[in-house]
Amino acid sequence: MTETNPAPQPASRQDDANRVVIFDTTLRDGEQSPGASMTFEEKLEVADLLDALGVDVIEAGFPIASEGDFESVTEIAKRLKNASVAGLARASDKDIDRCAEALRAARRPRIHTFISTSPVHMKYKLQMEPARVLELVASSVTRARNHVAEVEWSAEDGTRTELDFLCRAVEIAIKAGATTINIPDTVGYSTPAEYEELFRTVRERVPNSDKAIFSVHCHDDLGLAVANSLAGVRGGARQIECTINGIGERAGNAALEEVVMAMRTRPDVLPYHTGVDAKLLTRASKLVSAVTSFPVQYNKAIVGRNAFAHESGIHQDGMLKNAHTYEIMTPESVGVTKTSLVMGKHSGRHAFREKLKELGYDLGENALEDAFRRFKDLADRKKVVYDEDLAALVDDEIVTA
Ligand code: KIV
Ligand code: ZN
Repeated sequence: MTETNPAPQPASRQDDANRVVIFDTTLRDGEQSPGASMTFEEKLEVADLLDALGVDVIEAGFPIASEGDFESVTEIAKRLKNASVAGLARASDKDIDRCAEALRAARRPRIHTFISTSPVHMKYKLQMEPARVLELVASSVTRARNHVAEVEWSAEDGTRTELDFLCRAVEIAIKAGATTINIPDTVGYSTPAEYEELFRTVRERVPNSDKAIFSVHCHDDLGLAVANSLAGVRGGARQIECTINGIGERAGNAALEEVVMAMRTRPDVLPYHTGVDAKLLTRASKLVSAVTSFPVQYNKAIVGRNAFAHESGIHQDGMLKNAHTYEIMTPESVGVTKTSLVMGKHSGRHAFREKLKELGYDLGENALEDAFRRFKDLADRKKVVYDEDLAALVDDEIVTA
């Protein structure tokens, strides 16, 4: 294999300059969230759903890390029908060989090897001279490439790495046969404009940069993981590494559902697309939340339970007239059955009347007015008024009328 001979890519990725590869790392970086570990069976269930969702690459684990990780990567490699299966490996022969062994049965195996390139990581974590790190970039990618056609190389702590050194390391990795170059924002330190520029500069400066797909991998320490990921794509990256519900180390990784829906909803400013079937996003979110026991915050974008719920009277009135007033995507597009108008103290008469109709009640004007007053009293005492509360209230109204 030579530097000018990257791994064959599926047609969609070759032909379409704006196709973004979705690399899901829920089972690897996501599982590194403190407390998020999954059983073997749960990992298989998540992997199957990710495959059905249409992600391009599933990072199934870190085979040398434990016997359990090795077994789950091996089994996922055997069963996946569509996605490439990636395993993580440090820049060591042992890691890479173990990873290759776990991936043996995969239709499209990918070894993802990484080493730190920032001054602080090289000095304190690796305790290595920069020259030695560069040697390991070459030897690790070469070794991985002798096992498989798809090799991803990551510059850990890439956003805190000196630019010249980063370009040198990327050049070496491409020369050794890396087909994907990932520049992670490992500690969630970057900002969108900076990250976009980094990709543009590295791709311009490194010879043969067009031989590899560049990848973003963002952590959410400053709440910028999704914005940074999309900025990296604007800078020329064509792979996004992300997790369902944004789970991951510390504050997490970029949320898959958010990057996918941002590109679908705003093609005017983000003219990129993915192969993800967005209708399965809510199901994937629920499954990952259930198996990790990590609740999804109510107001989480796309998949939170309030993402398509409206409580204020003004919003409910607008929604009843035209859904575009307060929704920028349909709930059905991400697998939610329908918008919910939540009855609470901010709800207005219009929504109240519609809700009663939905529940099968058709009250006259006076009875409706009376019921609405009693509903407002109740809503002042209860955070949310459920359908059963409303039914009880109206039944009472009918009996006492
Ligand atoms: O955050 C990071 O740098 C990583 C690498 C292993 C890609 O997860
Ligand atoms: Zn990470």
